[in-house]
Amino acid sequence: MKDKLIIFDTTLRDGEQSPGASMTCGEKVRIARALERMKVDVIEAGFPAASEGDFSAVQAVAEAVKDSIVCGLSRALDRDIDRAGEALKHAERSRIHTFIATSPIHMEMKLRMSPEQVIEYAVRAVKRARQFTDDVEFSAEDAGRSSEDFLCRILEAVIDAGATTLNIPDTVGYSIPAQFGVTIANLMQRIPNADKAIFSVHCHNDLGLAVANSLSAVMQGARQVECTINGLGERAGNASLEEVVMAIKTRHDAFSCTTDIDTREILTCSKLVSSITGFPVQPNKAIVGANAFAHESGIHQDGVLKSRETYEIMRAEDVGWSVNRMVLGKHSGRSAFKSRMTELGFEFNSESELNDAFFRFKQLADKKHEIFDEDLQALITEVNTDTEEEHFKLIALKVCSETGEKPEAIVTVKVGAQEFTGTAEGSGVVDASLKAIESVTNIAADLELYSVNNINSGTDAQGDVTVRLAKGGRVVNGLGADTDIVIASAKAYLNALNKLENKGVKKHPQV
Ligand code: KIV
Ligand code: ZN
Repeated sequence: MKDKLIIFDTTLRDGEQSPGASMTCGEKVRIARALERMKVDVIEAGFPAASEGDFSAVQAVAEAVKDSIVCGLSRALDRDIDRAGEALKHAERSRIHTFIATSPIHMEMKLRMSPEQVIEYAVRAVKRARQFTDDVEFSAEDAGRSSEDFLCRILEAVIDAGATTLNIPDTVGYSIPAQFGVTIANLMQRIPNADKAIFSVHCHNDLGLAVANSLSAVMQGARQVECTINGLGERAGNASLEEVVMAIKTRHDAFSCTTDIDTREILTCSKLVSSITGFPVQPNKAIVGANAFAHESGIHQDGVLKSRETYEIMRAEDVGWSVNRMVLGKHSGRSAFKSRMTELGFEFNSESELNDAFFRFKQLADKKHEIFDEDLQALITEVNTDTEEEHFKLIALKVCSETGEKPEAIVTVKVGAQEFTGTAEGSGVVDASLKAIESVTNIAADLELYSVNNINSGTDAQGDVTVRLAKGGRVVNGLGADTDIVIASAKAYLNALNKLENKGVKKHPQV
């Protein structure tokens, strides 16, 4: 019998700490449902003390998810722990994850605490968290640069205080695989009560080693890996869930553990996270990149046609590729539409919400012959955007482009309750449209990224546009989808401007 490796997904917490990746409450619930369908063991839903919005999002995820454990992050502070306990109150199964930094540099420069004080805070935090739930995780932040002796002391103390999972984060992505694995083995061997807790790892990808470090730790006895979909996360990101899970599955000969993940859900989840956050997946990304199972050279293709194993170590279908994804068309009825949306994790709150979404679906089906899951995901994103507070709303857009002439755009935008029209010229129709919007909205933000991807193949495919704007230290991503990429661009730009307009303040857990 192999051990079970617990998969702890932190897309909704650490993933959201990527600049511009913030998600609304509804988006978090959609992702959480997709993670639950994939049979993720623990879903870290957020940091409830960060803001009212984060608190409500963790609460909503806790209420929506039934099969996975829902976890809330808290610093080692009474008020954070109480907020997490309150947000998780209605979860079927809850976990509080509390942390404090243990490296000399973090203790001295960030916390300005002595090692003794840090142990005192950690023990107190775990005991307080245990008043809310029996499932308490403790993280020694920056463990990758902490002294092994100090880690042994603090981890022994928090186990005695009631911690059931001990997480060893490589917070700054400094570790290298062999050494990180040895650290885990040493801790498990040296801590006298180590058998009373599960050892977990949480690796960042600053040197591109997050997955390698996590797997090295698993080989040495770690039985929980913290990871994110598409490797999203602070700076260079976290270990990617799909890579960790598929490495364990594909190389089962090398690991003495297995996961419960339904790997066929991986691709849908990856696309959902990418479309919600606006972080595209690079084509050569392992497992979920568009080229991950594509064969270019004639020799490879020939080999694969003769026998798949010549060049393929995994089956594309096992991670969700090449299943028949053409789900609906022009003639599909309301109930087929509703049931596919439910399968994708979207629940309608009222009959009128369903009617509105179905109307949009029919409009899209008129323009586009085949409707894929990705089209439905984009449609949901749009329905959600419309039901949230929108300060700026696109009413009309007209563009003119002719060889030898300067492209021009005329746009009408609703700003609050009033409509305004603006006109601008640009180097192309997209440029002209965004300038026309800017002439109406007057938010001088810096455009950091503009990207267009087609949601699926064909010239009638919807264009999925991401716009990243920065202003006053805030970075936001705006998304828009339409069969007309100029309209998709205008929607994405306005979506980003709406996010900038919504000035909710949010605390960062690690700063
Ligand atoms: O990277 C890190 O150390 C973290 C902790 C809060 C677990 O994200
Ligand atoms: Zn982290």
